[in-house]
Amino acid sequence: MTKGIVLAGGTGSRLSPVTRAVSKQLLPVYDKPMIYYPLTTLMLAGVHEILLISTPTDLPGFQRLLGDGSHLGLEISYAEQPRPNGLAEAFIIGADHVRGGPSALVLGDNIFHGPSFGSTLRRSVRRISSGETGCVLFGYPVRDPERYGVGEADADGRLISIEEKPERPRSDRAITGLYLYDEQVVDIAANITPSARGELEITDINRTYLDKGRAALQDLGRGFAWLDTGTHESLIDAGQYVRTLENRQGVRIACIEEVALRMSFIDAEQCRRLGEEQSGSGYGEYVVEVAARHSAGAEA
Ligand code: G1P
Repeated sequence: MTKGIVLAGGTGSRLSPVTRAVSKQLLPVYDKPMIYYPLTTLMLAGVHEILLISTPTDLPGFQRLLGDGSHLGLEISYAEQPRPNGLAEAFIIGADHVRGGPSALVLGDNIFHGPSFGSTLRRSVRRISSGETGCVLFGYPVRDPERYGVGEADADGRLISIEEKPERPRSDRAITGLYLYDEQVVDIAANITPSARGELEITDINRTYLDKGRAALQDLGRGFAWLDTGTHESLIDAGQYVRTLENRQGVRIACIEEVALRMSFIDAEQCRRLGEEQSGSGYGEYVVEVAARHSAGAEA
């Protein structure tokens, strides 16, 4: 069974003072906390054993929000990352959680939304569990690749290089904050050394897989949304995007109760209960509606 890690650390310094008292990943992206988006990404991949890593100060907030996850059919555990030592540290802190099997890491501020994303994810998870590849990265074309990890592919779409925030990017393909690995990731993470900026870089883990010919790139192409939430501007843009789609279609993106129901982690009755607990909000009403629709569909 693939295990998951959500990394929600960092100081959110670019969003100060908004993040002085509240973790960035608990800030609202329109109608729900930011962490719901990466959490549902893992759930759509079929992952229900999830380790949430954050700072000692911020962890209690996540625990208040999500508890042990059992109400959603999840098993959520928590661990501290006292200092922002880099993304790869997630596999040192979370070594016991993921050891011995495939795992998925998602960054707590990464928002993914697009057609057939769930099936793309589950197909990618199968590529790891079947041993076809050791690592699946997700590439997305951006206007400013120098801000991200950048992947370069050859004419056949095979990944040939990965660089972290290169001054002269070799392509426009950012490597997004969602990473699938086989069981070797724990040993690889244990052996990397800090970069020039003093961090254990996820890009160094990815490069190790690449050097062994064990890294695959899955493109998330046009028509897909991978949204940034790192600045006041991008945070409000992400909220606007969610608001526009939700209001137009009458659906909610990254509604954890709905995803738990769709993935059969919970039944319709439990979904209805979770909605009623939040009945004072439009969100809660939506969860109740989702449960009712599901029951009606099951009877039809
Ligand atoms: C990190 C990774 C980078 C990746 C990005 C995605 O960057 O180092 O490779 O493209 O997340 O959000 P950071 O957020 O640490 O600048």
